[in-house]
Amino acid sequence: MSILPITRSFASAGGLLLIILFMAACNNEPHQTVREPIDYIKPIPGPSDSVPVAAAKKGEVLIGYSDCYTCHKDEKRSIGPAFRDIAKRYPVNEAYIQYLAKKIISGGSGSWGAAVMIPHPALTADDAQTMVRYILSLRQ
Ligand code: HEC
Repeated sequence: MSILPITRSFASAGGLLLIILFMAACNNEPHQTVREPIDYIKPIPGPSDSVPVAAAKKGEVLIGYSDCYTCHKDEKRSIGPAFRDIAKRYPVNEAYIQYLAKKIISGGSGSWGAAVMIPHPALTADDAQTMVRYILSLRQ
C-alpha cells in the first residue's frame, strides 16, 4: 500500500530531474548560429550612373570579337561570373569602370572565387572600359 506513493514520487522526482537536466542541457548549448547563404554578388552600395546606349552597344561588339564569352555568359555563371552579376555588384561610376578595365587587361582572381581570368594585354584601356560599360549596363 505504501510502496505505490513512494514509487510514484520517485518516478516524478526522476521525471523532474530529467526535465531539469534537459533544460540545463538546452541552456548550456551554444545558440545555434543560423548560417547566412554565402553572398556571392556582394553588391557595393553607392550612386550609379546610367550607361549611354551607344557606349553599351560598342562594348557589346568589342566583347563579341574577343574571347570573353569562352568564360562568361550574360545571365549565368560560367568559368567566370555572369556579366549581370558583375553589373549587380559594381555601381556605374568612373572609378569602378577603370578598376574593372584594368582587371580585364591584367587578369586575376579572388573577387568571385578561385577561378582565374587570363590577362588581355593586347586590349587598350579605352576598349576595356567600353567593354565594362556594356557589362555594367546589364544592371538596368
Ligand atoms: C579564361 C577565362 C576568362 C576569360 C577569357 C575572360 N574572363 Fe573575365 N573573368 C574570369 C574569371 C574567372 C573572373 C573572376 C575573377 C575574380 O574572381 O577575381 C572574371 C572576372 C571578370 C570581371 C570582374 C572582375 C572583378 O574584379 O570583379 C570582368 C569585368 C570581366 N571578367 C570581364 C571580362 C571581359 C570583358 C573579357 C574579355 C575581354 C573576359 N572577362 C575574359 C574569366 C575569364
